[in-house]
Amino acid sequence: MASSEKYIQTKLDERKMLGNYRTLRPEGTLTDFCSNDYLGFARSPFLKDDIQREIENHPQSLNGATGSRLISGNLAYAEELEKQIATFHQAEAGLLFNSGYDANVGLFSSLPQKGDTIICDELIHASIIDGARLSYANRYTFRHNDMESLEGKLKQAKGICYVVIESVYSMDGDTPPILEIVKLTEQYGANLIVDEAHAVGLYPQGLISQLGLQDKVFARVVTFGKALGCHGAIVLGSDLLRQYLINFARSFIYTTAASFHQLAAIKMAYQLVTRSGSDIIQLQQNIQYFKSKIQAHNNYPLLQSDSAIQCIILGSNDKAKKAAQQLQTAGLDVRPILSPTVAQGAERIRICLHSYNTTEEIDLLVSTINNITHAQ
Ligand SMILES: Cc1ncc(COP(=O)(O)O)c(C=O)c1O
Repeated sequence: MASSEKYIQTKLDERKMLGNYRTLRPEGTLTDFCSNDYLGFARSPFLKDDIQREIENHPQSLNGATGSRLISGNLAYAEELEKQIATFHQAEAGLLFNSGYDANVGLFSSLPQKGDTIICDELIHASIIDGARLSYANRYTFRHNDMESLEGKLKQAKGICYVVIESVYSMDGDTPPILEIVKLTEQYGANLIVDEAHAVGLYPQGLISQLGLQDKVFARVVTFGKALGCHGAIVLGSDLLRQYLINFARSFIYTTAASFHQLAAIKMAYQLVTRSGSDIIQLQQNIQYFKSKIQAHNNYPLLQSDSAIQCIILGSNDKAKKAAQQLQTAGLDVRPILSPTVAQGAERIRICLHSYNTTEEIDLLVSTINNITHAQ
């Protein structure tokens, strides 16, 4: 019988050979152009103080939740928070999950049934793919942002149909033609689900609310680990959907609930976002500044994006790793995104801009990138 060690070693060696072996690195001191902390909440001393004060104001709160929400871990504070967040995003109801990964796995594994259909954009996040895989529904992908391709799949759909998009795509940073997608899903009687992980922040309430489309969308997933600077997620939708997920979403049912500390952080982050107008404007200005300075290059295109995520396609793992290494040597924390995380040929450096990046930092970033892409 083959040994498991031999299998593990072979698979790891394979990764090394392909140049996409993953390792964990301790935190560094380079200038941040890779984190999801778009508005600086994770590092905000104000948010830290607010969380501390909130915990002190609740001296009876426990260190841990002690159990799942359905056993001993439910807090009135959590239910109140769900209502507040739902109101903030103009949704009827919401259910907290311990992470965006858990939220998507819970939603997509429990809702679509055998005979139903899930149609995802081909660039959809791994957590949605994993959730959909756990369901017994038919699964299709459509070409990225391609309405003809989506319509083709809608024509093939059977049972109850769910169309899944992100309002800002995590790897490309672009936004789909949401109005056209709403029109198509209405035409074919499909339910639209939108992951807003990377939109909240740049658009404080998310892009769906910003566009006034909240009533056209069946459910939204908002995560707290990105612009909100903490951890966790919420599925927004009808109260009926909330009751359903409490009953059937296994990643909600079979896990210890978030601690009071985590909930307090989420609550305070939502309060901070309402006073963060100037940080949001600064982030928008930094995005525009970066885009105006970076030189478009035929061989190494900058993907079209108005979000904080800006990508330059290098086309191979080796080139993407070398470019990231050169940027790191210049003191800039930019990471390569390699295949198989992205398709072969779409390997890239992915730049995340933040409200707290200075003009000097962005100038250095741009000049280093321009040097690399012109030299390669
Ligand atoms: C689009 C999208 N959805 C969901 C998630 C998962 O969220 P979390 O990090 O809270 O698990 C991510 C995070 O990478 C994401 O980019």
